[in-house]
Amino acid sequence: MSTDGELKYLVYTSVATREMSPSDLESILHTARTHNERAGITGALLYRDDSFIQFLEGPPAEIDSLMDSIAADDRHSHVRVVLVERITERSFGDWRMGFGIPEKSRFADLTDATSYEDVKRAAEDLSIWFTVNERRQSPVAGFGSG
Ligand SMILES: Cc1cc2nc3c(=O)[nH]c(=O)nc-3n(C[C@H](O)[C@H](O)[C@H](O)COP(=O)(O)O)c2cc1C
Repeated sequence: MSTDGELKYLVYTSVATREMSPSDLESILHTARTHNERAGITGALLYRDDSFIQFLEGPPAEIDSLMDSIAADDRHSHVRVVLVERITERSFGDWRMGFGIPEKSRFADLTDATSYEDVKRAAEDLSIWFTVNERRQSPVAGFGSG
């Protein structure tokens, strides 16, 4: 894992252009897990009612180049970067891009937030929710072989 220097933390929201099947989601996660490990990117992908929220953290140049690919991906549209911060410590420790389906209200807290402060708070809550949720699961019960 690269621990060099400042990292970029970015959160975006987007809307799926069609209903995502489990295999659609698995395919996205497979690409993410393979590429992100090489690029030193960690994070989580949340999905709910055809909308995505993704947390990404890693070397700034890698995040920027990944966001170019993600923004051009026709599986979703309305890609909106809602939060960008410089960080020195990661919140998401695992190379496997985590995946979760949060409750509607929790998801909406972020997608509907109107001020940067509200977005930031909602992102922090979701990140904590995700991390605690993930830890509660048995290590062998997750999907994918990681
Ligand atoms: C919601 C969503 C999240 C994605 N997350 C990632 C990711 O974290 N890492 C990644 O490499 N690709 C991710 N992808 C796939 C990229 O958009 C793209 O297909 C992949 O990086 C290959 O890009 P390239 O064809 O420009 O090489 C995601 C796609 C979608 C629709």
